[in-house]
Amino acid sequence: MSITGIKGFNDLLPAESGLWQFIEQTARQVFARYGFNEIRVPIVEKTELFCRSIGDTTDIVEKEMYTFMDKGGSSLTLRPEGTASVMRALIEHKLYALDSINKLYYMGPMFRHERPQKGRYRQFHQIGAEVTGAADPLIDAQVLLMVSRLFQEFGLTEPRLQINSLGCPACRPAYRQALVAFLAERQEALCEDCRRRQGTNPLRALDCKVPGCIEATQGAPAMVEHLCNECDQHFSMVQNYLTAAEVLFSLNPRMVRGLDYYTRTTFELVTGLLGAQSAVAAGGRYDGLVEQLGGPAVPGIGFALGVERVALLLGDRSFEKTPDLFIAVMGDAARTAGFRLMAALQDQGFWVETDCEGKSLKSQMRRADKLKSRYSIVLGDTELVAGSGTLKRMADGNQQPVHLEAATIAAAITGGGQT
Ligand code: HAM
Repeated sequence: MSITGIKGFNDLLPAESGLWQFIEQTARQVFARYGFNEIRVPIVEKTELFCRSIGDTTDIVEKEMYTFMDKGGSSLTLRPEGTASVMRALIEHKLYALDSINKLYYMGPMFRHERPQKGRYRQFHQIGAEVTGAADPLIDAQVLLMVSRLFQEFGLTEPRLQINSLGCPACRPAYRQALVAFLAERQEALCEDCRRRQGTNPLRALDCKVPGCIEATQGAPAMVEHLCNECDQHFSMVQNYLTAAEVLFSLNPRMVRGLDYYTRTTFELVTGLLGAQSAVAAGGRYDGLVEQLGGPAVPGIGFALGVERVALLLGDRSFEKTPDLFIAVMGDAARTAGFRLMAALQDQGFWVETDCEGKSLKSQMRRADKLKSRYSIVLGDTELVAGSGTLKRMADGNQQPVHLEAATIAAAITGGGQT
């Protein structure tokens, strides 16, 4: 019996890799415009890093981490997200001392033991960016501007940006108390999870998908109504800057993020097109995180998008690449001449294919068709003697005589336009 892959861990097949490359290249280009540099961090970290940053009472840490003991007896975890690792690296390499502002981006696989379904996998991929060193609301707006431009560059009008503020350690405790009091009056209507979380993470009740909880939390107090002056001002400024740059957004006072490190501005890009998986990208400010991980008091803000979810939204777009030229050959001398011509054209950047199976001319031409090659040329003894052949444009059968020189053929297939 053959061995299959693991549930929730997917192969990215050649048919889809063009789309993924488009997503990654677009992100790299957009990030470069905003001054971000790439950082690559390991896929495995000490388990404690995620417990301390994401929070012990979050679903991720409670239920979803791939944690194991390595042979040396340390508890290690496959990273469920990127922010914690990037902040660990920032502290470990003292990047904050090299520059007061650090703008970093990353892309790669993340691991969460969730129930797999469309848009939700156990190994999934994020593209994320983080800015540290600036508490100014202008930076929040800049990150949101960049995210919205990124989706524009993808050619997507969905998803839509929703924002919220989760306050700070000064104002959140009073809000939390008000929320706990509200929930206490509706105990019986809440699901078991929400009841259990009241002492540890009551905000999660606002995010619970159980219909009873959705109903019971209607009219619950909202964080935005309990912000301290500084947080309130910060949030107003973020909105002013977004409006000034004409970035569309809406306010979602019920937005609760699934990670504990957030302070002040949080956001999600949501869509109705992916069933239960509505968030395509998400992020927010995490002003206490670096300090919490043993570094200096450096504020931060960032986001991550789910590559699989962006790919699903872009799904029907074609990123198929096709060869520029297929060289069909008849006889050994033509085969060698064709090989030399192919090498010269490849050196100039063209995608050139030739026969490698010893097939008849007819099946070579069938292969050129199958590959959707833009041009083809047939080389036989006659062509070799004459030093010229016929270049055929496959889309319309148009034929033109050419010298059998790389430069002439290169010029002809460059001028012929993409079919
Ligand atoms: P997150 O909301 O947990 O935030 O994940 C960000 C995005 O990753 C989601 O919006 C979704 O598109 C994608 N995603 C999450 N889980 C899965 C899954 N199981 N399958 C497929 N896609 C998934 C974070 O991870 C934060 N680190 C974001 C951040 C960066 N905040 C500040 N900086």
